Amino acid sequence: MNAVLKVTGLTAGYGRIEAVRGVDLALAPGQLVALVGANGAGKTTLLRTLSGLIHARGGRVELLGQDITKLAPEQRVRAGLAQVLEGRQVFGPLSVLDNLRLGGWVHQPDAGRIEEMFDLFPILRTKKDQGAWQLSGGQQQMLAMARALMSRPKVLLLDEPSMGLAPLLVKEVFEVIQRLKDSGVPILLVEQNARAALAIADHAYVLETGRVALSGPAAELAADERVRSAYLGV
Ligand SMILES: Nc1ncnc2c1ncn2[C@@H]1O[C@H](COP(=O)(O)OP(=O)(O)OP(=O)(O)O)[C@@H](O)[C@H]1O
Ligand SMILES: [Mg+2]
Repeated sequence: MNAVLKVTGLTAGYGRIEAVRGVDLALAPGQLVALVGANGAGKTTLLRTLSGLIHARGGRVELLGQDITKLAPEQRVRAGLAQVLEGRQVFGPLSVLDNLRLGGWVHQPDAGRIEEMFDLFPILRTKKDQGAWQLSGGQQQMLAMARALMSRPKVLLLDEPSMGLAPLLVKEVFEVIQRLKDSGVPILLVEQNARAALAIADHAYVLETGRVALSGPAAELAADERVRSAYLGV
């Protein structure tokens, strides 16, 4: 497979805690891959290791064939990897427009790209001059995604985009992720909402105590007895 993102034997942790233990994972062009697992399974640690916020203790991360395992986070963004962190990471005191301008720091000020983001998230256009703190939770999540997309990433990492949102907003956020997928950006999606994540993903991985316990086509995992009883509450 000509993977856009290829992870082999990745290990990471905190002090004596081994939170990620020898993870292999791949993301093909245009694919939406879901990463599900219980609280503390190591999902966030894995994503933060991919984006360089946590050092890998072992293993390898390749982006479009380039070894990025040892690169600093900003070098990975330049190489084409963007991440929306857990929790809505927007700059509250700044306007919606300035949040987007910051997201484009990798490139020259990019008015065209901002317009594309407003086309993708029309609600943000109507709020462009408002402070980010004035947005609702779901709108802040959209701003966080739009900001990450400003750098025209080759791969997008999303950590729990639906966390803490009311059901209606959860639905909206998943619709946005579907649209992003349709636009061709490969996405690695971490979600507690396993049912919704498996429903829109092509492929999925189940993480248990830092290891990949199961992986396969999302539809197959959604039908798997172990997944259904442990993660889908069936
Ligand atoms: N900053 C930290 N310092 C020490 N241990 C940590 C730190 N962050 C996470 N851990 C531990 O690493 C393990 C994996 O945590 P991680 O946050 O990656 O899990 P997660 O799958 O993202 O969980 P959740 O679904 O609750 O977000 C857990 O045992 C956790 O307690
Ligand atoms: Mg997490």
